[in-house]
Amino acid sequence: MSSTTKEKLEELKKRRAAALLGGGQDKIDKIHAKGKKTARERIAQLLDPGTFEEYDCFKRHRCHNFGMEKIQFDGDGIVTGYGKINGRPVYIYAQDFSVLAGSLSETLAEKIVKVMELGMKNGVPVIGLNDSGGARIQEAIEALRGYTDIFLRNILASGVVPQISGVFGPCAGGAVYSPALTDFIIQVKLQSYMFLTGPKVVKTVLNEDVTVEELGGASMHTTKSGVTDHAAENEDDAIWYIQTLLSYLPQNNMEDPPDVECTDSIMRRSELLNEIIPDNPNAAYDMKDVIRETVDDGVFFEIKENFAANIIVGFARYGGKSVGIVANQPNYYAGVLDIDASKKGARFVRFCDCFNIPVITFVDVPGFLPGTDQEFGGVITNGAKLMYAYGEATVPKITIITRKAYGGAYCVMSSKHLRCDINYSWPTGEIAVMGAKGAVEVLYARAAKKEDDPAAFLAEKENEYNTNFSNPYCAAERGYIDDVIEPAETRYRIINALESIKTKRDTNPAKKHGNIPL
Ligand code: HXC
Repeated sequence: MSSTTKEKLEELKKRRAAALLGGGQDKIDKIHAKGKKTARERIAQLLDPGTFEEYDCFKRHRCHNFGMEKIQFDGDGIVTGYGKINGRPVYIYAQDFSVLAGSLSETLAEKIVKVMELGMKNGVPVIGLNDSGGARIQEAIEALRGYTDIFLRNILASGVVPQISGVFGPCAGGAVYSPALTDFIIQVKLQSYMFLTGPKVVKTVLNEDVTVEELGGASMHTTKSGVTDHAAENEDDAIWYIQTLLSYLPQNNMEDPPDVECTDSIMRRSELLNEIIPDNPNAAYDMKDVIRETVDDGVFFEIKENFAANIIVGFARYGGKSVGIVANQPNYYAGVLDIDASKKGARFVRFCDCFNIPVITFVDVPGFLPGTDQEFGGVITNGAKLMYAYGEATVPKITIITRKAYGGAYCVMSSKHLRCDINYSWPTGEIAVMGAKGAVEVLYARAAKKEDDPAAFLAEKENEYNTNFSNPYCAAERGYIDDVIEPAETRYRIINALESIKTKRDTNPAKKHGNIPL
């Protein structure tokens, strides 16, 4: 080797070593002292060993305000590149808190935009790990431009490649809009927060006292706002969640999700399902038991578990094939549909439809939640979101009615009339315009007044209504239900149905895009 090459190699080694240290060992020690990991440690844990190809590790900012030309770090506060998770390619960026708190400069934004565009061009998912003090204050308008350049790529990539955001530290101000524009947000409990305006501004403007955790912590966003999909116990849990989530998804909108080998018997019956519906029509049971009894190996990967628990959404596999599951939860507010449940269900169905993931719907729904809170909050518009999502979805759709399917909620929950492909009901299905009690009160109010015992008269009419209308056969006689099935054989029937419609091709009328009731 010539001495010039040797020198140049030495220089490369030195510069790379400096870049790997980000803001320096003292800053890394500070991060560790807080119990957090560095950007590079997160990437190393998320990706398959030895697969990370880093880009732009020598990139530096170009700011001259506030003497910034003297403050330079190779890589400028973000680690970006390409790698593999379970053998499948991803593009990734992780904000490096060791460099000026990972604050976003013009050049830092350019690095993010580069991997996002590569993701879009190559049909590869993009993962962002957020941990940043927001806009780099010294860069002023250039930081704002940088953020907006990222937001635009988030918007353009939406529905093209899956986008996943991990929030591992601060994510505040307008910065929250990048995760908000992605498909899934995972927040680490007690070390991350997301809000538009922090506690100080809240105090000044509204004179309200609120902590960072109360205002934007993982617990709040997974229970109250619904902004976040999973509150991870710690960083390891967040990494595991991202890896597992990806395993259910295709690489892009032109591909199908990957199949995995299925060792769970396709013919497996579940006798438990023949007994799960209580005799009392108002008694609850856990719909997650129904899901786990039917899916491969009982594995259900739930999304937004603690938000609007009256509806369940998540991923699972049938016969090794990835599906999205939407289900009413009789165990929580009787599985009623309300504003939050409608939004949660609609967003999930639309994600599945973007990425060719069949949707399986389990129905036990008494109707929409009545009341001023719901009407004032726009339950009409929000309920319409779920209707719209199911109606526009062209992926294979299968519906199983286990018990109640009443009124508008019947129509919404992937009914035959919204282009569902295969609709089954258990014999315990109650498909009707409304519950028996409400129906006879409307139909027989005047007649009951003339009776000696109005209560007994109404009870008899209620029985009559139940026998004649609250069953699956009225719908089955018209072909709105394709078959009434034994609950124990639900797994096999779903796998068979999926097989029968796996070549489905359906389209929507040509248009620029629809106008979902937002
Ligand atoms: C430039 C910043 C910075 C920022 C932190 N630093 N935030 N530099 N721009 N936004 C620097 C600090 O000066 C410090 O530099 C180093 O990063 C570490 O910061 P510390 O404060 O020592 O760390 P810590 O105590 O852990 O607190 C982290 C923090 C806090 C909570 C993020 O730094 C903070 O509140 N920063 C300001 C947040 C903010 O107001 N951002 C702008 C929001 S407006 P030295 O040299 O001392 O190590 C916004 C608009 C976006 O984001 C709009 C998009 C559309």
